[in-house]
Amino acid sequence: MSVDYYPLKVSRKVREAEDSFSFYFSVPKEHEGLFQYRPAQFLTFQFEIEGQKLVRSYSVASSPFLNEPLRTTVKRVSGGVVSNYMIDHIKEGDTVLSQIPLGEFYKPPKSLKPGHYILFAAGIGITPLFSIIKTVLDSSDLDKITLIYSNRTPESIIYKKELKEWQDKHKDRFFIHPVFSKTEGRLDKPKLTQLLTRETLKDSLFYLCGPKDYMNMVSEFLTENQVQKDQISTEDFKVVPIRGPKPDENSVFFTASVFEEGEPEELKALIDGEEVTIPLNREKSLLEQLLDKGYDAPFSCTSGTCMTCMAKLKEGKTFQLEEGILDEENIQNLEILTCQSYPLSRKVIIDYEDL
Ligand SMILES: Cc1cc2nc3c(=O)[nH]c(=O)nc-3n(C[C@H](O)[C@H](O)[C@H](O)COP(=O)(O)OP(=O)(O)OC[C@H]3O[C@@H](n4cnc5c(N)ncnc54)[C@H](O)[C@@H]3O)c2cc1C
Ligand code: FES
Repeated sequence: MSVDYYPLKVSRKVREAEDSFSFYFSVPKEHEGLFQYRPAQFLTFQFEIEGQKLVRSYSVASSPFLNEPLRTTVKRVSGGVVSNYMIDHIKEGDTVLSQIPLGEFYKPPKSLKPGHYILFAAGIGITPLFSIIKTVLDSSDLDKITLIYSNRTPESIIYKKELKEWQDKHKDRFFIHPVFSKTEGRLDKPKLTQLLTRETLKDSLFYLCGPKDYMNMVSEFLTENQVQKDQISTEDFKVVPIRGPKPDENSVFFTASVFEEGEPEELKALIDGEEVTIPLNREKSLLEQLLDKGYDAPFSCTSGTCMTCMAKLKEGKTFQLEEGILDEENIQNLEILTCQSYPLSRKVIIDYEDL
């Protein structure tokens, strides 16, 4: 069950704002079917940089319904390997390797009634939301969108010109509330109370993309104001890798919240019909441990958003940092996201095939 990569040609590269660039791609004719995508999905690229294969995901900013080229936007991360490599070295005419589009961030509303979409973007978090904005405005004459868009300064706004054009075209149903943290401070609950009335919150759909603390604050505000969980959708870019987390009440799935006593022994995994065994490490996710040892375990986003890394827990105990995309049925069936799962027992056995 290893993942495949396909070549995409960079047809255009455009500077968007300070330190962020859009990459437009053309898809080879024979792979067009595979690259049909839903709004706000993401592409996962593989690059070989200084002899090391590195994989990173980037959200799609284009809309599949507008006959526009596939597009992602990359923001330079200080000290980040792939974002700097893409911005400094990938140019028009180059070919990059990508997995097929994945992700479940955008959930179209169940009812056909005209809806109100309230989108929260912080910085580069605007990318998947821009795909949603264009899709919603283009596919209905009645749906409304409110975008609450946080940036440090006006200069750091990504898609400034295009957002203005969409707003001019749909003045009566696309509203943008910019928040500039440098001059007015970060978005917080008192500001949200001023921006959103209880009445607006009741029947709207909420899409959040930005740093973890920002999304936690907004989600908390929404649930405190009686917004239901299924009205809220979040996308987590998770830029900083986590090392050696400890289980706590919020992170534990499947098992108790303590490590089994004694030295860790082994991690056994069935990958593509092959059984592999490696020493167990409590400091790293199950996926990371297998990749570190050179095994071709399947993965894509590494942030709990896709399911590519899902495996069945056959023996042992693990805890999962984030529930991610798992539903009740997955949890009942002991189907875990290995990119989010850490060992609790001394021995763990997982199977990538038995799903
Ligand atoms: C579903 C999804 C969609 C995404 N969409 C986008 C998008 O549209 N646009 C976008 O720009 N990004 C997006 N991202 C984030 C993107 O995938 C990368 O994580 C980001 O570009 C940083 O990668 P990098 O290789 O440049 O940084 P990395 O080399 O991975 O480093 C990231 C940060 O961690 C620090 N770091 C590295 N190693 C360590 C360590 N051992 N200990 C502590 N700190 C360390 C680095 O200094 C840097 O600050 C998305 C991520 C996901 C999961
Ligand atoms: S790799 Fe996407 S959920 Fe684990």
